[in-house]
Amino acid sequence: MKLSQDLVLAIAVLGTVSHVSWAQILRRNPMCCADGNHIKAELGPLLSKGASVSLSSSPEWEDLVERATSPRVEPSFVASIEAATEEDVQMTSSTRYIQVKYANEHGIPFLAVTGTHGWPTTLNELNCGIQINMRRMNSTQLHGGADTATIGGGTRQYEAVRALYEQGRKAAVTGLCECVSVIGPLLGGGHSMLQGRHGFAADNLVSARVVLADGSAITVSETQHADLFWAIRGAGHNFGVVTSFEVEVHDVAPKWTMVALAFTHDRLEDFFRTWNRLEAEYEDPALVLNGIFVRVPDLDPGHLFYDGENSVADAYAAAFRALGPAADSVVTDIEYKDLYVAGGFSKDGPVCRKNENILGYPVSLDGWNATAMRAGFEIYAELTADPRFATSIWLLESYGRGKAREIPPDTNAVAPEERALHVLISPIMWWQGADPADAEKAYAYGERMQEAVRRGSSGPSHSYVNYATGEESLPEVYGRDRARIRRLLELKAVYDPENRFGYYAPLSRRT
Ligand SMILES: Cc1cc2nc3c(=O)[nH]c(=O)nc-3n(C[C@H](O)[C@H](O)[C@H](O)COP(=O)(O)OP(=O)(O)OC[C@H]3O[C@@H](n4cnc5c(N)ncnc54)[C@H](O)[C@@H]3O)c2cc1C
Ligand SMILES: *[C@@H]1O[C@H](CO)[C@@H](O)[C@H](O)[C@H]1NC(C)=O
Ligand SMILES: *[C@@H]1O[C@H](CO)[C@@H](O)[C@H](O)[C@H]1NC(C)=O
Repeated sequence: MKLSQDLVLAIAVLGTVSHVSWAQILRRNPMCCADGNHIKAELGPLLSKGASVSLSSSPEWEDLVERATSPRVEPSFVASIEAATEEDVQMTSSTRYIQVKYANEHGIPFLAVTGTHGWPTTLNELNCGIQINMRRMNSTQLHGGADTATIGGGTRQYEAVRALYEQGRKAAVTGLCECVSVIGPLLGGGHSMLQGRHGFAADNLVSARVVLADGSAITVSETQHADLFWAIRGAGHNFGVVTSFEVEVHDVAPKWTMVALAFTHDRLEDFFRTWNRLEAEYEDPALVLNGIFVRVPDLDPGHLFYDGENSVADAYAAAFRALGPAADSVVTDIEYKDLYVAGGFSKDGPVCRKNENILGYPVSLDGWNATAMRAGFEIYAELTADPRFATSIWLLESYGRGKAREIPPDTNAVAPEERALHVLISPIMWWQGADPADAEKAYAYGERMQEAVRRGSSGPSHSYVNYATGEESLPEVYGRDRARIRRLLELKAVYDPENRFGYYAPLSRRT
């Protein structure tokens, strides 16, 4: 991991926490209900020429099912369909087809997969299912003059970022990590380097093609199925498979600057107080603050990004420099398409690694409480003193208030808390192997870190839906306004009455 604030120090902060039981999470149905060979024989001929069906005996199987969360979170599949067209997705997800051909009364479950970075435990509730692998539906087309682009449902961040930049020096509002899909973050809101100027990724959706639970494909937009269009922008993983979508695109500054500063842990309180002071002083900073706690043997810094000339950024950099960073570097003239590699978010970098159980425990805040951050830091330091967890980090993100906060909360299903609480933090824990004791430790420490930070905040507790563990309540991730939750549940009853899209950030649990 590249960016960072430095740390180190281990102090025990003890507390009893009730945490999710690993055994519970791993409980799966050992009896597989569907036969992959049947699926291949029956479904295969119905798919387009570009599609293929793989089974666990196929050489490509491991690549297809491997996830960032494996082995902790691993939906179980009997077949993977690499869909090449919208009809392939319809054919595979269609209840008509699946019920007629194989299934018991519940049908065979299925899950769309694009970036394989989703981490909620609820994905483990998928047994003996069909993976609808979306990667062959990767495409990005800029519409000249219209300032929109159409992006395929299987596109990852790096493909869209590079294509839009090359086609017209434009950018869509995407996430930071190159390995993550464009649609996955968007369906839950979508935090972005560009959110201060242009709002969340979901706020930039113009229309989408969605394959519903019954296998039909529809277009949703402000004028077509407007109710569903509202819902998929924030709670979208619950309603269908998006095969392609149109988003607004924006001019992007040609040159960016990245200031990378690292501090030792003794500067922690000053660091967070300075950050608070700067945000109070400068209404809309239009810059990206991306910090982390990281255990660093060789000090390696963390970040402040901004485009072009930016006097606010200069003031931020100067204020942080006054704290005496242990490392300080500046990279100028970074082209937008290269910013993510420069920042350490490359698809080939450690942040995108797979098979290391990735787990987060998010908290959203409207500012920092240095005392609470110190308490959290000490728990983090204790965890990472264990070599098995030493590469775990703690993300400290503030991508700008600006537009993301200004958009009226009624616009779409992004939780109002997501707009109001601009500071997004989460430990990101990585460890190797399938030892339940290691997972128990990660869960216990994750909860302690989350609670330590929450004790410092008087605001409503809120977790970003795309960083959620999977064990939160609906109001915690979708917002505390009961009318909004009711509206989402009513739409769910209309568009997915059998809860086929019930594995990722589900509006209703299957068990
Ligand atoms: C390294 C890393 C970096 C991240 N960076 C950011 C960030 O900068 N901003 C941010 O907001 N979030 C970020 N996240 C969180 C991210 O939004 C979620 O993890 C998201 O679910 C990842 O989507 P994916 O396609 O990569 O993963 P997948 O596991 O493939 O997909 C997640 C879920 O999305 C659904 N899905 C996938 N494809 C489709 C489709 N075509 N149509 C409909 N549903 C689909 C499925 O329900 C699936 O279970 C990051 C996560 C990680 C691990
Ligand atoms: C992108 O889509 C094309 C066309 O379906 C496919 O050939 C290619 O393998 C896909 N790319 C990746 C990385 O999967
Ligand atoms: C900061 O957090 C501590 C707990 O760590 C709490 O006691 C204190 O009241 C908080 N301060 C503010 C201003 O909220």
